[in-house]
Order: sequence, then C-alpha cells, then structure tokens
Amino acid sequence: MVNAIETEKLVKRFGNFTAVDGLNLRIQKGELFGFLGPNGAGKTTTIRMLTTLMKPTSGNIKIAGYDINTQADFIRSKIGVVPQTFALFEELSPLENLQFIGELYSMSESLIAKKSEELLKIVSLYEKRNVVSGGFSGGMKQRLSVAASLLHDPEILFMDEPTTGLDPQSRISLRELTTRLNKTGMTVVYTTHDMEEADKLCDRIAIMDKGKVMVEGTSAELKSKFGSGYKILISYDGTLEQPVLTSIKKMVPTGKVSVYADKLEIHVQSIAGGLVFSISNLLSTKKVKVKELLVSEPTLEEVFINLTSKNLRD
Ligand SMILES: Nc1ncnc2c1ncn2[C@@H]1O[C@H](COP(=O)(O)OP(=O)(O)O)[C@@H](O)[C@H]1O
Ligand SMILES: [Mg+2]
Repeated sequence: MVNAIETEKLVKRFGNFTAVDGLNLRIQKGELFGFLGPNGAGKTTTIRMLTTLMKPTSGNIKIAGYDINTQADFIRSKIGVVPQTFALFEELSPLENLQFIGELYSMSESLIAKKSEELLKIVSLYEKRNVVSGGFSGGMKQRLSVAASLLHDPEILFMDEPTTGLDPQSRISLRELTTRLNKTGMTVVYTTHDMEEADKLCDRIAIMDKGKVMVEGTSAELKSKFGSGYKILISYDGTLEQPVLTSIKKMVPTGKVSVYADKLEIHVQSIAGGLVFSISNLLSTKKVKVKELLVSEPTLEEVFINLTSKNLRD
C-alpha cells in the first residue's frame, strides 16, 4: 500500500537555525494524523514543505507516491491546504471566494457552481453564501477556508492549527467537520498545540519539539509508554487499618501507595483487569466508608513534560 505521505531525513534550515531536523514520516492513506507541539516546534515549516510551498534544505518527500522534486504540480492537484494564517478575500462573499479559487484551478463555471453549493452546505455556510465574508466570525472564516481547500477534490487535506484563536463552539464544530471529512476517506494532516484536541481528534500523533518528532503513535500508546500512569484517589471516613493497607499494596505490587489523613493515593502504570473495582470492593468488604473515588488518566501533556521537562502551553 502506498503511504499518503513519506519523508526521508527532511531538514529545513533558516541560516544557521534548524527549524525542521530530520523527519522520517510515514502517514497512511485515510489517517487523521496530528502534529502536536508548542509554538516554534516546526509544525508550519513542515506543512509548508509537504505542501510544495517551501523547498527543503535537504531530504526527500513523497506525496501519494509522487516525488515532490519532479511532480510538484501533480501533487498540488491532490492536496488541499488550510493555512495557519487566513487567506480569503474579505470583501467577497463565500460564493465569490470559491468562484475565484475555482478559476485559479481552471475549473468550469458549472463545476465551480456545483462544488460550491455542495461544499458550502458541508461547512454550514450555504445560508450565508452571498454575504460579504469580512464580517464573519473566526469560525465561519475558517470553515470557508476549509471549503476553499476542498474545491478541487483533493485526496489529502492539510490543516495548520485551524482551531487556534477560535471560540470553544467554533472549535468543536471545526473538529466535527474534520472528523466527517476524514470519515469520507480523506487523509488529514492536522497541526495543533492543544494536547486535548490532538488526543480526541487524531488517529495517530507525532509529538514535535525543536524540529524533531520525539515520539509517535496513537494517543493510548503514547500515554501508556511515556505517561506517568494512573492516579487513584480515595477519600474515606475514619482510619485505614494496617491489614487493609497491606492487602491494597499486594494488589498493586509495582504501584506506589501513599496514605494521608483521610485519603489514599495510588499510582499505577495500568488499571487493566478491573483494578479500581477490586480496590473498591476490598474497602467495602473491610467496612471502610469511601466518600469519593477518583481516577485520573495520564495525559499527553504529561507525556510531553516527561519527554522534554517543559509544558506544551509555554
Ligand atoms: N521564514 C523563516 N525565517 C526564519 N526563521 C523561521 C522562518 N519560518 C519559521 N522560522 C522559525 O522556525 C521555527 C519553527 O517555526 P514554525 O514552523 O512556524 O513553528 P510552529 O508552526 O510549530 O509554531 C521558529 O523558531 C520560527 O521562528
Ligand atoms: Mg505554526
């Protein structure tokens, strides 16, 4: 099977500064693949190279099996790009914007009309098709940008931080749109600095920092390999007898159990096999009155901190 995207030792330098430092990517057809990384990680530079907008300093890129050095025009016909900075004509309506872009692609009038109607419905802007877009909200502009990127029926869609700066409602609707497009079979490459977004949205995630992909995998794989595990917090009434504590420790031989005044904190790498239920059951059998039981899962933020000793939000 041909990968949607392959790179070999992809590098981009600006003078002495290395913005992208040796990426070896394999993104499969139909994947919703996320680049997660803080500002300055090299996400946009990577996207610009993958979308033929910027020449790599060194390394190779193949998109849909085609070499970017010799078949860039063909690649451009297969990809759609939603850039980080908005690039539509504010004085034009959605229909006029799409008309303009359709002409750039040398599409026929009738095809532009047909695709515009279809796409504006998909991105929920059909009602506003004749309204000047300058007054649109950030979310509406971004959805128009998505419609524009899809006009020529691309197979691969690149979205560079499409939700950054949007209000929560618009963010949700744009993510839903992304998922829907991906479900139609479109390969989506999505960048974000929002770990929760990457976690919820993406099939596979590459965590980037300083131009390098540090780790790559599904969110679950990354959390289980590089996260700090699960924390089970139990608040109870009264005291915890030593035998009960000993029994709990036996249930989590590799975990860490800490006892506070009216709280028990258990750190474990995995809660597989009904561990939380077993602990709760044991406490109930021993007549310990549990007031609250909380389980916190590892997060991608933790994965990032564990790998780099810094926060993603910095
Ligand atoms: N045209 C350029 N000239 C010089 N430095 C650049 C240029 N574009 C990006 N950079 C630098 O490369 C690094 C990565 O930038 P970028 O790819 O935009 O990161 P991200 O999209 O992850 O925030 C940053 O330090 C940025 O300042
Ligand atoms: Mg960027």
